[in-house]
Amino acid sequence: MSIKISFRKSKLEKTSANLVLFVAERFNIRPIKNYISRLEYSYISDLLKTSDLKKRLLDFNLTSKKKIILVSIKKNIKNSEVENLGAELYGIINLGKNSEYFINTENIINNNKNFIGYFLHGLKLKSYEFNKYKSKKETRLITVNVLGRKNNLSNLDQIKFNALEQGTFYARDLVSEPGNVLHPDEYAKRLNSLRKIGLKINIYDEKKLKRLGMNTLLGVGQGSIRGSYLVTIEWNGLKNKSKPLAFVGKGVCFDTGGISLKPAKFMEDMTYDMAGSAVVVGLMKNLALRKAKINAVGVVGLVENMPGGNALRPGDILRSYSGQTVEVLNTDAEGRLVLADALTYTEEKFKPKFIVDLATLTGAIIVALGSEYAGLFSNDDKLSKQLIDAGEKVKEKVWRMPLNKNFDKLIDSKNADMQNINYIGGAGSTTAAQFLQRFILNKTPWAHLDIAGMAFSKYGGALNSGGATGYGVRLLNRLIEDNYEHD
Ligand code: BES
Ligand code: MN
Ligand code: ZN
Repeated sequence: MSIKISFRKSKLEKTSANLVLFVAERFNIRPIKNYISRLEYSYISDLLKTSDLKKRLLDFNLTSKKKIILVSIKKNIKNSEVENLGAELYGIINLGKNSEYFINTENIINNNKNFIGYFLHGLKLKSYEFNKYKSKKETRLITVNVLGRKNNLSNLDQIKFNALEQGTFYARDLVSEPGNVLHPDEYAKRLNSLRKIGLKINIYDEKKLKRLGMNTLLGVGQGSIRGSYLVTIEWNGLKNKSKPLAFVGKGVCFDTGGISLKPAKFMEDMTYDMAGSAVVVGLMKNLALRKAKINAVGVVGLVENMPGGNALRPGDILRSYSGQTVEVLNTDAEGRLVLADALTYTEEKFKPKFIVDLATLTGAIIVALGSEYAGLFSNDDKLSKQLIDAGEKVKEKVWRMPLNKNFDKLIDSKNADMQNINYIGGAGSTTAAQFLQRFILNKTPWAHLDIAGMAFSKYGGALNSGGATGYGVRLLNRLIEDNYEHD
């Protein structure tokens, strides 16, 4: 469904159009008397007697053509809750056949800055659909008009909300594309086109990667007929050369498991195994669109993990970009091989303030945290706290998990410096993170987010209607805004 939002500076006209009105908790409608007719007022008053007042939105069909939707706002409502209300409104207006709504902001009892901005942001995020491959598209257009003096979102705030939506939607688009379309060659090509919004793009193809010695990344992709790539995406929003913030993403365009082949059931889910990279790309797009006053770099490793005559074998030993050697005991533990080279390279080349990596890295993190929290693994308490706080604010939550030397020992190998899985000791998500940590060579503050449970939602969540969530774009944008962007 396509949603168009327009702002009108006018007062509410007496009209037969659908109305959205804000009321206080428990639906006291006396304050909105002026905005509806007496007949409507008494009709709604009657219906309210038998309505569930604990709900946050109630909708009333006044005629077959006119709907009035009441939205109850509790005192001290948080921005994330305002977003959820907007998203709930989408659930109602998406069902109706009427296509034009008027939101009256005159009666917002709340003093949150940007109340209406957050409300519409939630509505927009929830309205995203990926229907590119449906031959018959529903082309209904829902127009939402915002009336009244409290719709005065500043230009800057509008740019910010819009950039964040575009960044999130871009991440969702990339994750939603099937493996036959968004293979590494196509992905690299799409990233190249981001030059036009002011991002600096560097694409390292196999030849260059070979010369650089990125053999763990290359190893994962060697069974595929597609290329393997490392792509760096730079945004320099500051005139000075201050250290950038670095974001690294796992971009396994499809993960069959390789020779350690996955079972058939749910293997199709592995089209979203590039979600970590998509979040990095979406974040960078957002930073460029809103011209963030920050230096940042995104680094993504793009590969396809396939079995084949040239594929990696269990037992193969690879020399990573860091110089350390890795015994590949399971070709399905491929994400860490891609990230290993990407992390060392990022640290060495950009000397960033910090590195945050994102990856759909382990099934074990879903066992531990489900779809509530991403797993956070970090060598730095300050960065961890900043991520946890940002996550709570935008409701893209993270939960810190442990790292320590006893876990680290579990990936020591007899034949090489380390092996890519542990057979004893459990803690599969932690040992994966320990593996990554071995590739941070200069003690740069680093955080790893295992988003395997967050990237895709079969049934939808508060701010998405099912499918790719874009989880992480809003989290990292908040992290940056709250802690690293100062005018
Ligand atoms: N991409 C998977 C992890 C994953 C699983 C993401 C389910 C999303 C949903 C990763 O590459 C993988 O296969 N991990 C293995 C590691 C194991 C071989 C040590 C896993 O989790 O089983
Ligand atoms: Mn795998
Ligand atoms: Zn994977």
